Amino acid sequence: MTDAPKKLFIKTYGCQMNVYDSERMAEAMGGEGYVQTDSAEDADMILLNTCHIREKAAEKVYSELGRMKPLKAAKPDLRIGVAGCVAQAEGEEIMRRQPMVDLVVGPQSYHRLPEMERRLKDGRQVDTDFPLESKFDDLKQRPKMRRAPTAFLTVQEGCDKFCAFCVVPYTRGAEVSRPSDRVLAEAQALVEAGVREVTLLGQNVNAYHGHDGGLAGLVGELAKIDGLDRIRYTTSHPNDMDDALIAAHGDCEKLMPYLHLPVQAGSDRILKAMNRKHDAESYLRLIERLRAARPDIAMSGDFIVGFPGETEEDFQATLDLVEEVRYAQAYSFKYSTRPGTPAAERAQVDEDVKAERLARLQALLSRQQTEAQEAMVGREVGVLFEKKGRLPGQMIGKSDHLFAVHADAPEELAGQIARVRITSAAPHSLTGQLV
Ligand code: 5AD
Ligand code: SF4
Repeated sequence: MTDAPKKLFIKTYGCQMNVYDSERMAEAMGGEGYVQTDSAEDADMILLNTCHIREKAAEKVYSELGRMKPLKAAKPDLRIGVAGCVAQAEGEEIMRRQPMVDLVVGPQSYHRLPEMERRLKDGRQVDTDFPLESKFDDLKQRPKMRRAPTAFLTVQEGCDKFCAFCVVPYTRGAEVSRPSDRVLAEAQALVEAGVREVTLLGQNVNAYHGHDGGLAGLVGELAKIDGLDRIRYTTSHPNDMDDALIAAHGDCEKLMPYLHLPVQAGSDRILKAMNRKHDAESYLRLIERLRAARPDIAMSGDFIVGFPGETEEDFQATLDLVEEVRYAQAYSFKYSTRPGTPAAERAQVDEDVKAERLARLQALLSRQQTEAQEAMVGREVGVLFEKKGRLPGQMIGKSDHLFAVHADAPEELAGQIARVRITSAAPHSLTGQLV
């Protein structure tokens, strides 16, 4: 065949699992002769891998599609697809609102993307099934190619928790874990391709049950892989942090001292209304136990302000909880009404009040992040170097605690872990010297 390869442009929104899914979709389309391009103008196919978690994220898809009109007008053969959680949630509605969209594919059926693309000659395609066979059964082998030193690896998907604000149980479906032998084989292949650090992904990753020992059991198995030096996992639910996983943070050297453990709010009344099934005190005690196992563990979290019914006093309880935990990193959001979720039906907090609370919370969280970074000055840390920095001779990598670190270092250190003494802290990164 002498045909020039067709070009695929993927734009990814939202969470790390979408980043992973985009890679897998690109690999699947690679089998159809598509190569990836980073220019939408050059593409023969454009895929938007979308996020439905908040209203703004979902609306972005429609404005992006609007911007693509001239591209489609200039190149009528251009294929436009919508994947991810907006695809799952809105399916046919996208087709109605945007006639130029050729295909809509949900996060559990994207292994069928090549087949859907072939069928486009017969008309537009929509697939938002939750097929019984897992997409990963179809997408077994990952192509052999040189990879960056860090990689995501999905081990679990979906959620059965039904927090009252969240669309995930509807868009990603019920909790499913990948069998540990598959995960181990994929990790081994990633390591052979140059990966030194994996982040295990799941919407409820610590509810993982693809190994008898749960997520701690899987981490223990992964830690035996030579050449795999660092293991992280995200996102966890406080109610699924079992004793073995807490202990692993003390015992397993490869498990990095960083944990994203969303609490969402500090008021028990709001936590109950959110259907979180834990209270503020149990969350704080859990962090105490984690810190007993690994005293320097860097904590990260997610917060929602202005959940329906949140009073100033409730919000104050969130600030108090944050003061007590001392986060190294955190993400905070104004509550966003999601159609179909229980909280959408309740009396809403004023937008101005939400904005004002978010500003106060973010000021506190960013102060804590600065303090956490400044506390690293003078310490010696492991850094996995990833790429060249902006300044000549400089390399950038991530520390064990997931802080970005700049240091003067030879380029050959890309993909290697080196010891670095931290000399200064800037707002979003640290600077250090090789030791
Ligand atoms: N509004 C605002 N934030 C939300 N999140 C989930 N659903 C909503 C919503 N409806 C946040 C939570 C979650 C993170 C991924 O997104 O904090 O942990
Ligand atoms: Fe959403 Fe709650 Fe499940 Fe997290 S645990 S994905 S916030 S329903």
